[in-house]
Amino acid sequence: MIRKAVQVNISDYPEALSELLKDTPVYDSSCSQEAQVIFIDKDGGYYVKKAPKETLKTESLMTEYMHSLGLSAEVLYYGSFNDSDLLLTRRISGEDCADLKYLSEPKRLCDTTAMLLRALHEIEGSDCPVQDRARIYADKVMKGFDGRYYEPDLFQGIWEFKSFDEARFIAEEGLPLLKTDVLLHGDYCLPNILLDDWNFSGYIDLGNGGMGDRHIDILWGIWTLKFNLGTDKYTDRFMDAYGKEKIEPEMLRMVAAMEMIGA
Ligand SMILES: Nc1ncnc2c1ncn2[C@@H]1O[C@H](COP(=O)(O)OP(=O)(O)OP(=O)(O)O)[C@@H](O)[C@H]1O
Ligand SMILES: [Mg+2]
Repeated sequence: MIRKAVQVNISDYPEALSELLKDTPVYDSSCSQEAQVIFIDKDGGYYVKKAPKETLKTESLMTEYMHSLGLSAEVLYYGSFNDSDLLLTRRISGEDCADLKYLSEPKRLCDTTAMLLRALHEIEGSDCPVQDRARIYADKVMKGFDGRYYEPDLFQGIWEFKSFDEARFIAEEGLPLLKTDVLLHGDYCLPNILLDDWNFSGYIDLGNGGMGDRHIDILWGIWTLKFNLGTDKYTDRFMDAYGKEKIEPEMLRMVAAMEMIGA
């Protein structure tokens, strides 16, 4: 993660955070347009995620839950201020998997992320605060039934459909088959997986996590290797390392169709 020094306006933050931000070097660490993430270089380091009001509540709950399992960062503050939601977490050691250190060993990265995902999916999540991720997910897919979010090239070379109508047909076929039997990360991409010298140190960006269908995480685990390594040659290797006996290729194709049409 490349960090760019930034200035922050202390008055944009509640008192609980402004003390931390005062006279401290701050760096931008954002990965997307939807949220601003800043790194506070103090003590062992802190991250503040700022996003539109009400959008980080689930992420805060899921991060706390995953932290209780030893799988994520400690949440030090969550709250709304002005028009924003703010989430303060303690830094997880190491680097995220989009770091060159890991990208430069693609086979090891593929095997590591696949095996970590399988271990996550083996956790019994009966006390997870989001039990209905599959239903929330299905609602987002159905929002795209009119074609307004269709991204035909999302999984180019891996999963493709002749037309929107075909993608919608396959997605509709898959919706009633979605299971709610595993603990999902929900955004299983390299920048959201942190390793410390190849040892797992934590997951972040858990706002779409909860109990749902394993194929959703597997699909994004495959996509992120293709996206970040620029090749789809690790697709099979990822499934082998995860455990092919747990993967239904038809379900993966149906989930790909859902992702392509969904909001
Ligand atoms: N607690 C933390 N410990 C270590 N690194 C962190 C932590 N929180 C965030 N980061 C770093 O900041 C980056 C961006 O954070 P995060 O993934 O939460 O937001 P995002 O991907 O920009 O937002 P979005 O929710 O819109 O996808 C991560 O990829 C990671 O490098
Ligand atoms: Mg992220």
